[in-house]
Amino acid sequence: MKINIAIDGPSAAGKSTIAKMLAKKLGYSHLDTGAMYRCVAYQSVRLGIDQNDEAALAAMIDSMSIDFDSDGHVFINHEDVSTQIRENQISMVASNISVFPSVRERLVQMQREIAKNKGYIMDGRDIGTVVLPDAELKVFMIASVEARAKRRYEEYLQKGIEADFKTISEDIEKRDYQDTHRLTSPLKKATDAVEIDTSDMSIEEVRCAIEQLLEALNK
Ligand code: DC
Repeated sequence: MKINIAIDGPSAAGKSTIAKMLAKKLGYSHLDTGAMYRCVAYQSVRLGIDQNDEAALAAMIDSMSIDFDSDGHVFINHEDVSTQIRENQISMVASNISVFPSVRERLVQMQREIAKNKGYIMDGRDIGTVVLPDAELKVFMIASVEARAKRRYEEYLQKGIEADFKTISEDIEKRDYQDTHRLTSPLKKATDAVEIDTSDMSIEEVRCAIEQLLEALNK
């Protein structure tokens, strides 16, 4: 029988990479909830909606569709925005708009609806605590700021995107602060989540560690 798996943690901890990998191996679906907050951020920037206007953001969400295909591409109103939502500027806007309860309620509702049939690996900040409190396995992935900034920096270089290590590192620290200090559903480890510090682990090692947790569940 399929279960739901929640993977939470700060930005650039490797949650999506692991979730994608595991989903492929287990035949599960992956839902990157950060991409949904990024879609709201991107659409608000594009439409010139004030990032501090909670009501306008909520109305915007009510009039837009966010969809994923099985390859992890993200669509706003059927337009593929997978690349645009990854821009560094959008990361900070996503963190800013994610503080609003009206924004969160709408996205959480969509996320629960998507995962109601089980077989999902969902990654984000509040999956184990709010979105799927009944998820059968909860993982909380952490890593030092330096390790995360290094990974992001290398990712940008690989993609040919100009990047500055110091700026990336400062942005990560700023987002960590915002995501853990917001009033509604701040980033926090669920009491029943297993914490994995990936600072000195390879992706393969993290995957093995989670697979061992899954095996233990089946015993
Ligand atoms: O995972 P990410 O870096 O793509 O997420 C972008 C921002 O979205 C993050 O800084 C905080 C917000 N977010 C959130 O509040 N809750 C989630 N479940 C996922 C992301």
